[in-house]
Amino acid sequence: MTEAPAALESGPAPPPVPRLVAPKRHADEHTPLIANAWYVVAKSDEISRQLNRRRVLGRDVLLYRKQSGEPVALSNRCAHRSYPLSNGYLDGDELVCGYHGLHYDAKGFCVRVPGRGAPSGVKVSSFKLIERAPLVWIWLGDQSLADEGLISQHHPTEDAGWTAVSGYFHIKSNYVHLHENLHDLTHFSYLHAQTIGTKEFAEIPITVDIQDGEVRTRRELLNHPAPPMWEELMNLRGKRVDRIIEGHYCSPGLHSARLTIRDLSPKANDLEEFHLRILHFISPETQDSTHYWWFIARDFAQTSAEVSGAVEVGISNTFQQDKDALEAISEVKRTDGNTSFREASFLSDRPGMATLRILQRAADAEQPQHADGISRA
Ligand code: FES
Ligand SMILES: [Fe+2]
Repeated sequence: MTEAPAALESGPAPPPVPRLVAPKRHADEHTPLIANAWYVVAKSDEISRQLNRRRVLGRDVLLYRKQSGEPVALSNRCAHRSYPLSNGYLDGDELVCGYHGLHYDAKGFCVRVPGRGAPSGVKVSSFKLIERAPLVWIWLGDQSLADEGLISQHHPTEDAGWTAVSGYFHIKSNYVHLHENLHDLTHFSYLHAQTIGTKEFAEIPITVDIQDGEVRTRRELLNHPAPPMWEELMNLRGKRVDRIIEGHYCSPGLHSARLTIRDLSPKANDLEEFHLRILHFISPETQDSTHYWWFIARDFAQTSAEVSGAVEVGISNTFQQDKDALEAISEVKRTDGNTSFREASFLSDRPGMATLRILQRAADAEQPQHADGISRA
């Protein structure tokens, strides 16, 4: 009998085989968009007395402010011949169509047809807006369900003691992929190796808490070097730190995250803990594209314009990598002719998959309401 080589018997144990997770029904790029939810439609300073338009959930939405400053959202399609109302103009608080001059009030009712008086019953859709500066939220689904209390309490700038920077990306990918990306931190070690990732990141265990349609995660990376970007900005070069990362899928329009970095060898007068709050406001533009506003607030070096600038550039570069990755994946999905392809998922994908299942259930619950005219394409 041939003996096995000794090196094989005494060598290191083979790496464990990653456990595959059984597929369950979850949202993907084909899942209908969820209409009954609050989404950010614009930053406050994008809505003014100038007519502006923005597409959300496939709807072309006209935005402007009344003379009182109250923001208004109407369907950007004239009830007469579908001319874009954003090509018209404001007459006081009334909107005048630029094609044949119909006048609409801020609720969308046609109040005057030139030469014909005021027709009854002619109207364009109007949508509830809630302004919580610096953001304005919109509800595009059943207007009777637009409960302001459903807007998350997370807010980018309301707390004293925090300094925020922000940015915006337009992503040519379905919004569910961004939600999954935000819960999937194993990509930090690879996609963001130069900024916020370290190689240990892919291996930290995750605690996942799924309750009431929300998904919370917690990862603790103890006694490790700080990631390159924070090492620089927190003055932690060469030091060991604890890093605690909490992620929270709040709603179809929002994911929030917190990061704590604890210096394990602070000198006198050094800050011991550094905190960051990251808010991701996610609004589906169409089935294949997404508006993405992000804010990152810090409680250290609050008055330093230099640190603000560095955080803004570093985070923009990092999130640009996410945008590029999501767009590359969407391109593969659109163009690959292999129709039998199925993605594999692992235990580390659990928080993202749980979020996708919640989004699928919310979309399923709206199916009877699809006659509401929301474009799903
Ligand atoms: S299309 Fe607007 S008034 Fe005719
Ligand atoms: Fe990322």
